[in-house]
Amino acid sequence: MSSIEQTLSIIKPDAVERKLTEKIKEKFLENKLTIKNQKKIQISKEEAAEFYKVHQTKPFYDRLCSYLSSGPIVVMILEGEKAITLNRKIMGATDPKKADDGTIRKEFGISIDKNSVHGSDSTGNAKKEIEFFFK
Ligand code: CMP
Repeated sequence: MSSIEQTLSIIKPDAVERKLTEKIKEKFLENKLTIKNQKKIQISKEEAAEFYKVHQTKPFYDRLCSYLSSGPIVVMILEGEKAITLNRKIMGATDPKKADDGTIRKEFGISIDKNSVHGSDSTGNAKKEIEFFFK
C-alpha cells in the first residue's frame, strides 16, 4: 500500500554557511524524495524557541534556539513514500559521531549542535512543523 507523506526539513546555519545546500538537496532527491516547497530565511531566537518548544525542558534548549537563529537556514517540505522515516534515515543519527556512513550528518555534521539538518520525527510533528513555516 502506498503511503505518501510530507515532512519538514531544515538545512541548519552551519551547512548553509558552508555552501552545502545543493549537496544536501541532492541526497534527498537521489533517495526519491521531492521538494514541494522551499525558502531561505533567518528566524529570530523567539521563533526558534517556539519551533523547538518540545525541547524546552532540555539543558541544551537555550543553546539550540540561539544556534538555529544565528544565520540563514533553508526550510523545505519533502514529499515521498514514508517520507518521515526515510528522511530520518537519510539524515542519520542526531550525533554525527554515531551516524551511519553515507548519511548527511556523518558526511557533513560537525557536532551534535551543528548537525547540519533537522527533520520531523512523527506524523503529528511533521504537520505542525510544516504549518509553522509554510502556513
Ligand atoms: P534536531 O533534530 O534539530 O532536534 C533538536 C536538536 O537539539 C538536535 O537536532 C541537536 O542538534 C540538538 N541537541 C543538542 N544536544 C542534544 C542532545 N544531547 N540530545 C539531542 N539533541 C541535542
